[in-house]
Amino acid sequence: MSDIKLYYRNVLSCVIGKEHGISPRQLRSLGTKTRPIIRTIQSLREKGLERYRELPYDRSNPRKVKALVKRLRPLCDDLVVLGIGGSALGNIALQTALNPYLYNLDPAQRDGPRLFILDNIDPVQFVSFLDWIEPRLDRTIFNVISKSGRTSETAAQMLIIWDMLTKRLGPGQLKEHVVATTDPRTGTLRCIVEQEGLMCLEVPEGVGGRFSVLSPVGLFSAAMCGIDIDRLLAGARAMDKRVSSEEFLQNPAAIIAAINWHYYQQGKTISVMMPYSYQLKDMADWYRQLWAESLGKARDTKGRLVHVGPTPVKALGATDQHSQIQLYREGPNNKLFTFLYAQRYPRDVRIGPSLQSAPELDFLAGRTLGQLLDAERKATQYALIVDQRPCLDVIFDKIDAYSVGQFIYLYEVATSIAGRLFGIDPYDQPAVELGKDATYALMGRPGYEQLLGQMQQVMGLDQGFLV
Ligand code: PA5
Repeated sequence: MSDIKLYYRNVLSCVIGKEHGISPRQLRSLGTKTRPIIRTIQSLREKGLERYRELPYDRSNPRKVKALVKRLRPLCDDLVVLGIGGSALGNIALQTALNPYLYNLDPAQRDGPRLFILDNIDPVQFVSFLDWIEPRLDRTIFNVISKSGRTSETAAQMLIIWDMLTKRLGPGQLKEHVVATTDPRTGTLRCIVEQEGLMCLEVPEGVGGRFSVLSPVGLFSAAMCGIDIDRLLAGARAMDKRVSSEEFLQNPAAIIAAINWHYYQQGKTISVMMPYSYQLKDMADWYRQLWAESLGKARDTKGRLVHVGPTPVKALGATDQHSQIQLYREGPNNKLFTFLYAQRYPRDVRIGPSLQSAPELDFLAGRTLGQLLDAERKATQYALIVDQRPCLDVIFDKIDAYSVGQFIYLYEVATSIAGRLFGIDPYDQPAVELGKDATYALMGRPGYEQLLGQMQQVMGLDQGFLV
């Protein structure tokens, strides 16, 4: 039961120099800035706001999830999640982090149904999946996740699947095969749940999509696939203690937020998250949404136009050493790097003996892949640091449900603190909403005619520009 650690020495001026490093004075001033924010967040929490912070303490929803899982697991070979953004990325991240790489392909490597998380509406991809799943429908459970119930992508997927279920298995079968995860009271999906009598789980009120992975949004598919959700939530609770501390250097979320904010002010507006672990690859994807949607805002909380937001980028070690590192080392020094890695691999493999025909490969023989991956990560960090590129390390002892729960909670709270440092509301996403409305307009939804007219004026196709 070990805690994940944050190592921040490689952003300091004593390591990467005065121009790009943070001086002791600057570090103290970042502490002074975050302390009142942590206090404010704490008092909001006491007033019943910042609801995502309470998810690890909720007993009722995990109990409902487990009851449903107990009932449905024996009945299904395939679980299909329909959702997008905050209603899918956490589920994908949990699955990649906590289940084996070949979970779906190899029955010996899985404890639960195969899992498919369809977070796109590409017709070619979707039809290929429909072809495969159609003959398997009688032992398939669909988990439709939409907090608002008004997301076109998820709604379209749902209508396709429901039509297929009804045609293939007969009317009345939806309630045997569909679990809806949605708002407890309002929204289109809530109405459908009531009318069709569907099995249902709740996205707790006041919890936004990208902060919802520790609610039934993420817990149901995780528990169906054998992930220990109690350990996940226990990890989040353990992290809550650390990220509630007003002592800056004891609070890893405050340090992450403050260092990101500091570098943004210095022109390092890109935040690269680079796991050296395939298991954490999709955590970086989850982080990318959390950071981008929460912190990229036109206006601050006083309504002033600010257009702020660090750009999150995900990279994967060692793969992206052969794709991105040239830019990261020699391109503009406008990035902060965060490396994620584990100190222990539950499984490792020894590299085969050396070959007489290739003595230059002797250095690999007898070592393990884990040793090589560690060496590559350290080598990359060294190369960045000598080029004065700031690096943070988030270190897992080993990747398990407990440490992943800590990581999720750590980054959610870091996002909340960073939002306050940037002076914006991290919980809204006005720019995403306009895109949703514009899609309605284009698809002919009544009530959106005026928007359609505006769009046609702005975007009318002018043949003069077609080459
Ligand atoms: O974080 C968010 O709020 C968004 O990414 C939403 O999760 C996404 O737009 C899907 O919304 P919904 O769950 O309402 O279908």
